[in-house]
Amino acid sequence: MDAADVVAKSKHCIVFTGAGVSAESGVPTFRGAGGLWERYRPEELATPEAFAKDPELVWRWYRWRQEVVHRAAPNPAHYAIAELEALGVVKAVITQNVDGLHQRAGSRNVVELHGSLWRARCVKCGAVYRLEKPVEEVPPRCPRCGGLLRPDVVWFGEPLPQEAWARAVEHAAEADVVLVAGTSGVVYPAAYIPHIAKKHGAVVVEVNVEESAITPIADFFLRGRAGEVLPRLAEEVKKRLSTRRESSPRGPSAIGSSQP
Ligand code: APR
Repeated sequence: MDAADVVAKSKHCIVFTGAGVSAESGVPTFRGAGGLWERYRPEELATPEAFAKDPELVWRWYRWRQEVVHRAAPNPAHYAIAELEALGVVKAVITQNVDGLHQRAGSRNVVELHGSLWRARCVKCGAVYRLEKPVEEVPPRCPRCGGLLRPDVVWFGEPLPQEAWARAVEHAAEADVVLVAGTSGVVYPAAYIPHIAKKHGAVVVEVNVEESAITPIADFFLRGRAGEVLPRLAEEVKKRLSTRRESSPRGPSAIGSSQP
């Protein structure tokens, strides 16, 4: 039984993604060569204290990240995951990414554990705004109350959005397969998700260019770039599904079948 068999035979397959899935779209990852945390100090840009100290600096960084993503396009990894959902195989995508590329590739059931670059929240009245393009004014102000808007993302030291976390844990507890792609698996509580799935008996299939903190619990480790491995996996799954359908043709349907 290989990874494609396991995924094709799954009853509740979920996908857990990290920045590595967007790397081939030209969106930088956080750790490793060329990662964002190599060039910027997270405590200076991705914490509530940093925002309180200098909201303009933080927004300049987030506007730059919005511009990078706005110019980027989903890559074959995103499309393969969306295809597996359209086939009814993938039930949910639980992502640490804030770039919205899963949704742009057609994934519908996406749980954003770390929020989104494409939402801003008023620190005063709590209003949340969808952003269709990078902000112009930094820091942006709330149209409703004039308060300061902040990126609707989870910063270090902040709790995850309650509803997203609850949905993610529910899927992880129900999953019989969790496909983990492009994450170093070192940032908690998000990184608990594959462990929760494993504890509930799920098979762990990992896709990464190198080993990660998840690899020790992986039942299958598919070494390679997500943009190559995931489309190949999706093709193989499609083949297994059609072979299964051919080998067990449905009997005459009750409605409208002409009994001999
Ligand atoms: N294909 C597959 N995996 C890749 C690719 C690729 N093309 N390129 C990089 N990777 C892998 C790296 O080997 C690494 O394991 O993706 C992972 C990226 O790890 P991180 O940069 O740590 O990103 P992530 O795991 O998503 O970080 C989690 O940390 O800073 C916070 O909030 C931020 O959501 C982020 C969280």
